[in-house]
Amino acid sequence: MTAPLVVVDHPLVQHKLTLMRKKDTSTASFRRLLGEIAMLIAYEATRDMRLRAEPIETPLAPMTGAVLDGKKVVLVAILRAGLGILDGMLQLMPSARVGHIGLYRDPRTLEPVEYYYKVPGALEDRAVLVCDPMLATGNSAVAAVTRLQGSRPASLKFVCLLACPEGLRRFHGAHPEVPVFTAAVDERLNDHGYILPGLGDAGDRMFGTK
Ligand code: URA
Repeated sequence: MTAPLVVVDHPLVQHKLTLMRKKDTSTASFRRLLGEIAMLIAYEATRDMRLRAEPIETPLAPMTGAVLDGKKVVLVAILRAGLGILDGMLQLMPSARVGHIGLYRDPRTLEPVEYYYKVPGALEDRAVLVCDPMLATGNSAVAAVTRLQGSRPASLKFVCLLACPEGLRRFHGAHPEVPVFTAAVDERLNDHGYILPGLGDAGDRMFGTK
């Protein structure tokens, strides 16, 4: 079974993504646009949230409303670029719990090495959304999801801004049951592990570190 790939091709998302891709877009605009797109992708990625009936009174009449059921969602950012998606999602879900996973690439083996891991406890009852803007080689995404699966969350989804065929193959090869939500699937990965045409280094562009 191959997990679904959801490309959020809403015109607002595509317009904002094109602005982000432009090389002259400022750090401030890049960060703001990433937050806005993250909100719109979060809207799709949370479509299956459970609701329960709640009797309420409007100023005019009693009625039965609907409110979110179950434990709060957990948003997990892969450091550091995942923080940009996290900020946008938190605007939409301010009560969400938050986890962070820090991974760096070992220059010798090129494998991801974990240097930080802090996530909320009792994930068994919670839906987890893992955030990282670029699904490039897929190695960090696979490592993060593998680590989280150890805590047996109620559900897991991966949310990014851009993916590429190589990253999707690697990710779904390891985690065929985890859906991926993205704004676009680009052409390919280059020899340095960057997505083409892509948008460059998401972390550097978000934090102005280059
Ligand atoms: N990480 C980035 O920031 N950009 C890419 O294109 C690939 C990985």
